[in-house]
Amino acid sequence: MTLRELVHGCTFDDILLAPQFSLIESRDPATIDLRSRLTKGLSISRPVVSANMDTVTRAPMAIVMAEEGGIGIIDRGFRPGDIEPQVREVQVVKRSQHGVIHDPYTIESDATVTEAAAAMLRSRVGTLVVVDGARKLVGLLTERDIRFLADSTARVAERMTPRDQLVLHEGDLSLPDAERLMVARKVKKLPLVRADGTLIGLITSRDLLRQRRLPFATRDDLGRLRVGAAIGARGDYLERAAELLRAGADVLVIDIAHGHSVVMERALAGVRARFPDAEVIAGNVATAEGARFLADRGASAVKVGIGPGGGCTTRITTSFGVPQLQALVDCREGVGDAVPVIADGGIKRHGSLCEALLMGGDTVMLGSAFAGTQESPGEVVQKSVLLPESQKTVKVPFKVLRGMASIQAIKDRLDVEDADVIDLQALGAEGMEVSVPLRGSARSVFQDMMKHLCSSISYGGADSLSDLRARFDGDPLRYVIRLSAAARRESYER
Ligand code: XMP
Repeated sequence: MTLRELVHGCTFDDILLAPQFSLIESRDPATIDLRSRLTKGLSISRPVVSANMDTVTRAPMAIVMAEEGGIGIIDRGFRPGDIEPQVREVQVVKRSQHGVIHDPYTIESDATVTEAAAAMLRSRVGTLVVVDGARKLVGLLTERDIRFLADSTARVAERMTPRDQLVLHEGDLSLPDAERLMVARKVKKLPLVRADGTLIGLITSRDLLRQRRLPFATRDDLGRLRVGAAIGARGDYLERAAELLRAGADVLVIDIAHGHSVVMERALAGVRARFPDAEVIAGNVATAEGARFLADRGASAVKVGIGPGGGCTTRITTSFGVPQLQALVDCREGVGDAVPVIADGGIKRHGSLCEALLMGGDTVMLGSAFAGTQESPGEVVQKSVLLPESQKTVKVPFKVLRGMASIQAIKDRLDVEDADVIDLQALGAEGMEVSVPLRGSARSVFQDMMKHLCSSISYGGADSLSDLRARFDGDPLRYVIRLSAAARRESYER
């Protein structure tokens, strides 16, 4: 029997993996290699991607994902033509950490303190480099310089630290040299200038510390965190792609409910014609033909999952879809090793992560797993919950998770607040809205997942994720146990 036959019709809870002789002394994620391919051109240290959903990934989530070694995809749940808000989220991530900041936020010295405060708020940075009209450095202005003066008409020139009191460096500088200089001169900010005084960069001690503290972080060549962004397949998608790439997005995602389609064919052709070198993830598909279709048309990675997602009603409303383990094995066979596969949706317990990564996923995309965390977007609402034991009602904080094809999400995107629900239903909602209790930081969810993944690697008799994959691929039937209904209850019902 082949793996494909064994998992036909199966999803995560239909199987267990048989334990093997364990080789490793410690299951510490700091010592176990979990590196995986995200796309043809990009690898990440932790195989986790947060979903492009408007209740999951905006800048705060994407920053945590990249700091921990995964990556977040900013959703396109902004209204058509409204590209700037999404671009801003990308910019916030790209500017959250740096090696050298090559384009620091600047302000001119004759601007008012009020204007400077607004610029700091907009850009969410606490230091502006003060320059003249020819971009020559004239000073530094920090939040502390203008504290309590937010409404003042005082000029930046009066509050800044002027150039002659700053420690500067002329020309480029390696990060270790910058660290030595900043320690020696006891400064937290080091502007870089050309011989003629033109600003060419800024190094901050905060960035240097973070680079050290986060050894697994997903960074680009300039030391900035990496981030992805979704663009859709119609309307403004090409313009959106251009703006997002200009803002530094490292990967684009074209995802539509049914990626094996003429709509996707046209969209992928359009993106490839204009951006031949961009990393472009395309999806979603769930069959070998669908995955090959995307790979043949230039996708840098294929996103797999039709209907397993937590906020998703596609299977209920259409009866189409493929159980996720079957989909992953089929799609992996469809594209071989040529193109990485992203296992998207349906991960409800940490153990499923390992299953997804062995059955064909190079990485895993998660939505509901990160919903209800501090970093997920959305208001906290207090709901009354009845405690069954005491019959007492208590207030519990919740956040909303909604499918991107839910009526509520479509409504927000299309700007059709006035349309009644009947009209909206005609648009074909394939998602729903659920309330998720608040549960702390996405970082701790992420770190717990990685611990459990490392335990899976230990149970699987391997010393790294790639080692476990190689062992599994060599003899999958040694691992996979199909469960009876009683065994499934024994395993997963608690
Ligand atoms: P999880 O299970 O991690 O899944 O919450 C996240 C994935 O669910 C998909 N998604 C949807 N699928 N209708 C759908 O059919 C929707 O409204 C919807 N919203 C999100 C998406 O692939 C996401 O990454």
